[in-house]
Amino acid sequence: MNTNFSKNRIAVLGAGKMGGILIKALIEKHQLAPERVRATVAHETRAHELSHKLGVTVTTDNVAAVDGADVILICVKPQVVQEVAEQIADKVTALQLVISVAASVHTSQIESALGAGVPVIRAMPNTPCVLGQGMTALCKGQYANPEHVGAAIALFNVVGRTVVVDEKHMDAVTGLSASGPAYIYIILESLAEAGVKVGLPRDIATLLAAQTTLGAATVVLETGDHPALLKDAVTTPAGCTIDGIMELEEGKLRVTLIKAVVKAAQRAKELAAG
Ligand SMILES: NC(=O)c1ccc[n+]([C@@H]2O[C@H](COP(=O)([O-])OP(=O)(O)OC[C@H]3O[C@@H](n4cnc5c(N)ncnc54)[C@H](OP(=O)(O)O)[C@@H]3O)[C@@H](O)[C@H]2O)c1
Repeated sequence: MNTNFSKNRIAVLGAGKMGGILIKALIEKHQLAPERVRATVAHETRAHELSHKLGVTVTTDNVAAVDGADVILICVKPQVVQEVAEQIADKVTALQLVISVAASVHTSQIESALGAGVPVIRAMPNTPCVLGQGMTALCKGQYANPEHVGAAIALFNVVGRTVVVDEKHMDAVTGLSASGPAYIYIILESLAEAGVKVGLPRDIATLLAAQTTLGAATVVLETGDHPALLKDAVTTPAGCTIDGIMELEEGKLRVTLIKAVVKAAQRAKELAAG
């Protein structure tokens, strides 16, 4: 594995939504030349379509794809990870780095399927990686060293922000930031619907909702201020916002969001079992 990420050859096993997003982003951001990528999917017809769409070699042969790769990205569904890891085990060596983005599947499960000594990193990205605005959490397995972690950080920094956590937090990350875009889209859709209810054209309502969400998130990230303080700054005594907040509290928005993340994190623990 080369510490300069663009010099590596990458195998992406399971170029579906997440695998496809990562390939596309790495190529578009000139971090990887298309000829350095080999991808796989389950179906031949899909392989042809995708090869044409992404401009990389796509087959259904996982074993051939990992041959000569420096970094192997496992992007299949959690229930398929074990099967794929066992399939490639004879070809993979400790000189390669395996990164799995599968929810629920522990690094130790992948390590024991691949054989001792193979460095494994588990990553949990999210779909905004498609526009370089992703959030990825990483953790390392027992054979991965700081250089491997550095390479994984370099890869996911191309598609957004990256944080390193202990593996015990990965299901919580799945419930919060990997599932999170879906929650935010529902909130955005609802705010846009609200705009329509109070008389705004739908496109303007959607723009107002989306830019307001982006702006508020950017302020949290850039100032580091507590969201409650920032909320207080918007809330003039006896003004309009406090009336809106009262409705949110009555509708139990906070507890509903907390319960959504708790449920999704619980489900993330079970996925690998099917
Ligand atoms: N989607 C997200 O927001 C997200 C976020 C974080 C992590 N993840 C993780 O990413 C992984 C993939 O999720 P996804 O949403 O991208 O699913 P997906 O769109 O269904 O992609 C899965 C891909 O795996 C391929 N595949 C199935 N069996 C295979 C095999 N034996 N060998 C090679 N390829 C095989 C499928 O091929 P065909 O297309 O031919 O069926 C498909 O392209 C999951 O483990 C998930 O936990 C997803």
